[in-house]
Amino acid sequence: MYEEQNPTLIYLKNNIGAFKPHWGIILGSGMGDLVHHITVVHSFEYNELPDFPKSTVQGHQGRLLLGYICNQPVIAFQGRFHYYEGYSMKTLTFPVRLMNSLGVQKMAVSNASGGMNPDFKVGDLMLITDHINLFPDNPLIGPNDPHLGPRFVNMSKAYDVEFIASARSIAKQFSIPIKEGVYAGLTGPCFETPAEYRYLWRIGADAVGMSTVPEVIVAKHAGMRVFGISIITDLGIEGHTEDVSHEEVLKVAKLKEPELSKLVVELISRH
Ligand code: HPA
Repeated sequence: MYEEQNPTLIYLKNNIGAFKPHWGIILGSGMGDLVHHITVVHSFEYNELPDFPKSTVQGHQGRLLLGYICNQPVIAFQGRFHYYEGYSMKTLTFPVRLMNSLGVQKMAVSNASGGMNPDFKVGDLMLITDHINLFPDNPLIGPNDPHLGPRFVNMSKAYDVEFIASARSIAKQFSIPIKEGVYAGLTGPCFETPAEYRYLWRIGADAVGMSTVPEVIVAKHAGMRVFGISIITDLGIEGHTEDVSHEEVLKVAKLKEPELSKLVVELISRH
């Protein structure tokens, strides 16, 4: 499916010449501004890419960019696909297969999430150290193509420890306050009830969102190294859960994006 016959891949290969990205970037809700750090060489609207899914959520643009961040060739997906939009796991993780087919070995993902950890505040950045898959599905279900990766994927170090250590020191160097924690991924599109946030905290999650986990699973299947970062846009903590809305999520994400961008750009430039 992802090999030579795939229409999106063929189209891209025909249009980007010898450009070979090393890093792949998938940007979360309201976080399109990181692309301003890219010296763009090629740009495509999602709807001009044959067989490429369309994004349907407000705050998610549909644009694919290839270019450079401090001499590092990157491919960036400005706008991601969610399970709650009705996409299959295979479709919504297609960008990861695509970047890998173009040569990407390192992936950075960002997202907005609700924080259950009582030490968290709205606007915090959280390095994702691990995740809990609470989707009722997995993008690797079905026949396994051994050319894409192994049948059984080791997820013990899903989020690259060297990237996490590097992000910690970048945050320190640039005085960017940073938290760390476990991200629980579930379908949405409802935000959680107070009981659900409580449950998520009890099972070991620090933050919760509706993305990222499927993409990271596919990236690990493909043997890629992954960096993940969340903006805590709302709190799943008793007394705060009334405040959550998509508008609020986008507002906070927009506000904190410059810090997130600085961190990701610096990380990419160092690896
Ligand atoms: N829950 C689920 N997804 C989210 C949240 C949340 O509180 N905030 C941002 N995305």
